[in-house]
Amino acid sequence: MSGASADLVAALAALRAEAEALIGAATERDVLQRLRTDYLGRKAGRVTAILRDLTSLDIEARKAVGQAANEAKAAIEALLETADAALAARAHASSADLTMPARQAFRGALHPVTLVVDEICDIFRDLGFTRVTGPEAETEQYNFTKLNFPPGHPALDLHDTMYLGPGTLLRTHTSPVQVRTLEAYPPPIRVTIPGLCYRRDAWDASHAPVFSQIEGLVVDEGVSFVDLKAAIGYFARRFFAPGVKVRFRPSFFPFTEPSAEVDVECQICHGAGCPVCKGTGWSEIMGAGMVDPAVFEACGVDAERFTGYAFGMGPGRIAMQRYGLSDIRMLYDADVRLHAQFVEAR
Ligand code: DAH
Repeated sequence: MSGASADLVAALAALRAEAEALIGAATERDVLQRLRTDYLGRKAGRVTAILRDLTSLDIEARKAVGQAANEAKAAIEALLETADAALAARAHASSADLTMPARQAFRGALHPVTLVVDEICDIFRDLGFTRVTGPEAETEQYNFTKLNFPPGHPALDLHDTMYLGPGTLLRTHTSPVQVRTLEAYPPPIRVTIPGLCYRRDAWDASHAPVFSQIEGLVVDEGVSFVDLKAAIGYFARRFFAPGVKVRFRPSFFPFTEPSAEVDVECQICHGAGCPVCKGTGWSEIMGAGMVDPAVFEACGVDAERFTGYAFGMGPGRIAMQRYGLSDIRMLYDADVRLHAQFVEAR
């Protein structure tokens, strides 16, 4: 082999090694494309250029260099091919599919009981009621004594009430806020009092140890049971349906006299009887009555001059009626799929 051809073969080996290193380092298909042009391009490719030079060599040398050049070309070609396929596969695996539907943005929703509490308070606001709140941790005085519960009343029992310490407890109803309101403001009074209450009740389909109530209190001169019935009737027609059936049943509460329990026609079976209304066709939504003069006296309100009515309703039960839920525990599962259904109901 002549000196010239030996130089060319060595140059080809160097080109091949160089190309091999560059191809191995390439991370982009564009780079491979450029390397292909650089080394194998028909016009300016560096391997191609050597093949073009062969004309000046003798036949032996031409054969030797030609063979080396073709091998180099084939080797570089093969490396480019493999590297390109690998990069193409990687790009395919990591690229986003732009035809996929977008992932749905997460939307929270107000709890059905929150919706119901707000709606009820809004209806009573139209009748002139102001929304007020009171503490969940209470004293026995406010929760029981000033509400005319006699000493030893079963409600004071450790089995029914969650005591925090001697004489302090988690309120078992929102009625103590009646007392706080009567002590803080002179009549006329018209308030709704939403809030959480606590009882030592076992969980079942219609009981929970923590639940919400809305208390109502109206005190003025000349307030009568007729006003109570009118307000509750107005509320039920607006909240449930214009023609909804409502009934008052005589009942007893220490803080009202006379007292009643108020039922609406079951909104799930419309009076036919179902498991939610326990076959009665009616659903109890509140207790109510005329404020007992003993409560006025305990709060320093002139019971000769003023009369009043009060009610306490269960927004959880009412939400079950409104949304057709058969088990109160559904309201405690924090399942946003349940909540999200009622967003528009507002
Ligand atoms: N506090 C009663 C309860 O939790 C509900 C109630 C009944 C409230 C009659 C009232 C009322 O204001 O007048 O069972």
